[in-house]
Amino acid sequence: MKGTFLFILVLFISVACSSGIKIGETCSSQNTCDSGLSCQTCPANGNTRSRCTQIRPLKSTSKVRFIFYVKGLAFNKYSWLTTHNSYAIMGTKSPIGSFIISPMNQEDSVTNQLKNGVRGLMLDMYDFNNDVWLCHSTGGKCINYTAFAPATDVLKEIQVFLEANPSEIITIFIEDYVTSSQGLTKVFNAAGLSKYLFPLSAMPKSGEDWPTVDDMVKQNQRLVVFSSKSTKESEGIAYQWKYVVENQYGNEGMVAGSCPNRAESSPMDTKNMSLVLMNYFPTNPNLSRACVDNSDALAKMMNTCYEASAKRWPNFISVDYYQRSDGGGAPEATDEANGHLTCGCDNIAYCKENATFGTCDVPKLAPPPPAAAASQTPTQSSNNSAYMESRPALQWLFGTVMAATLLLLLNHQ
Ligand SMILES: *[C@@H]1O[C@H](CO)[C@@H](O)[C@H](O)[C@H]1NC(C)=O
Ligand SMILES: *[C@@H]1O[C@H](CO)[C@@H](O)[C@H](O)[C@H]1NC(C)=O
Ligand SMILES: *[C@@H]1O[C@H](CO)[C@@H](O)[C@H](O)[C@H]1NC(C)=O
Ligand SMILES: *[C@@H]1O[C@H](CO)[C@@H](O)[C@H](O)[C@H]1NC(C)=O
Ligand SMILES: *[C@@H]1O[C@H](CO)[C@@H](O)[C@H](O)[C@H]1NC(C)=O
Repeated sequence: MKGTFLFILVLFISVACSSGIKIGETCSSQNTCDSGLSCQTCPANGNTRSRCTQIRPLKSTSKVRFIFYVKGLAFNKYSWLTTHNSYAIMGTKSPIGSFIISPMNQEDSVTNQLKNGVRGLMLDMYDFNNDVWLCHSTGGKCINYTAFAPATDVLKEIQVFLEANPSEIITIFIEDYVTSSQGLTKVFNAAGLSKYLFPLSAMPKSGEDWPTVDDMVKQNQRLVVFSSKSTKESEGIAYQWKYVVENQYGNEGMVAGSCPNRAESSPMDTKNMSLVLMNYFPTNPNLSRACVDNSDALAKMMNTCYEASAKRWPNFISVDYYQRSDGGGAPEATDEANGHLTCGCDNIAYCKENATFGTCDVPKLAPPPPAAAASQTPTQSSNNSAYMESRPALQWLFGTVMAATLLLLLNHQ
């Protein structure tokens, strides 16, 4: 009898110690959170308690992988996390030795973005230095102080990822200022990406479904590229506004309750285009506010855009500082869109293998509360209990250990 209690006690302790810190729980450094999470606060939302925060869509889990790759739906039946100005990365030193005075929109390299499940990249390309560069500029001209990197450098990162991950699909949206002859073709060739290009001729022209992700993987046509210039179709690069509808970007696109198309795009409810892209980021990137923008407000806008887009969930969710949120953020919004799209559930985590559309497996336990934490400003007297409140697992463990010890003692007598 005593042995059993001890065994249970050891079991509880080892279970509690072996797992990392879960989403929503208090953390102290990068290393303490489970993988796919980072330790963050969101002071702009009144949340100063460091919590483990989701930075990757769930696609990498085996269950979700099943839904992606065994179900093998059409490409337009999935949602892909997308970074706005993916190359405008904080701390970039320009290879030409200039400092950069351009706004920055992301915090980590494109390689790292891809590792975290980003699958849509927005790249601004310009003629510069007898080459094509990624530049965040004005007036259609790239200058030393707005030039981030030669396009080939970042395209090579994409090539390396596609090579190493043979079942992944990436989409590039080019804001295209390149006028040099065959400029785009040259950089895609130089980066070894041409062989992965999804052919323009196979793109659905009147709102039909795309090929399935399975087919795209089998054919190795795993790179979808759109240009903002219609003339690039002569180089075999799709003119974005024939295939994608996209809402207004910048501050005007962040007005709650409305989701108008951006000027270049057909109306959001145009059904002869089968892909829907949702932008949600301010005109001037703001790192400290990104965690607010990327959380509840983003989720609400996704519902607004769903209604505006003839009841279609966004295929691409594009944000600044994609890792920043007050909880699940843009990766979670992507999981939600994928749940709706693939199995009719509120999150892809709730999809059931081989079940009919709309049969969901919603967990009985509610997810941890969004941390406008009750324990934010612990007073002198409540410090201990506040700490315990923020760690339900610890509290539970504490209770269990107490009860077990008590029983053990009773049993002993
Ligand atoms: C831009 O940078 C290049 C290379 O460092 C330099 O030669 C050139 O003078 C610079 N141009 C301007 C306008 O600063
Ligand atoms: C799709 O519909 C829009 C709006 O009705 C129209 O402007 C556009 O030309 C159509 N595109 C194609 C490829 O049929
Ligand atoms: C960025 O956001 C913070 C928090 O909302 C705000 O206080 C600040 O004024 C913003 N900065 C700019 C430059 O808009
Ligand atoms: C779902 O179907 C696949 C293919 O028919 C099968 O291999 C798999 O075992 C099924 N999974 C479950 C949980 O029934
Ligand atoms: C609360 O507890 C933490 C950790 O033990 C300690 O560093 C901090 O000084 C305490 N704060 C107060 C107000 O007692």
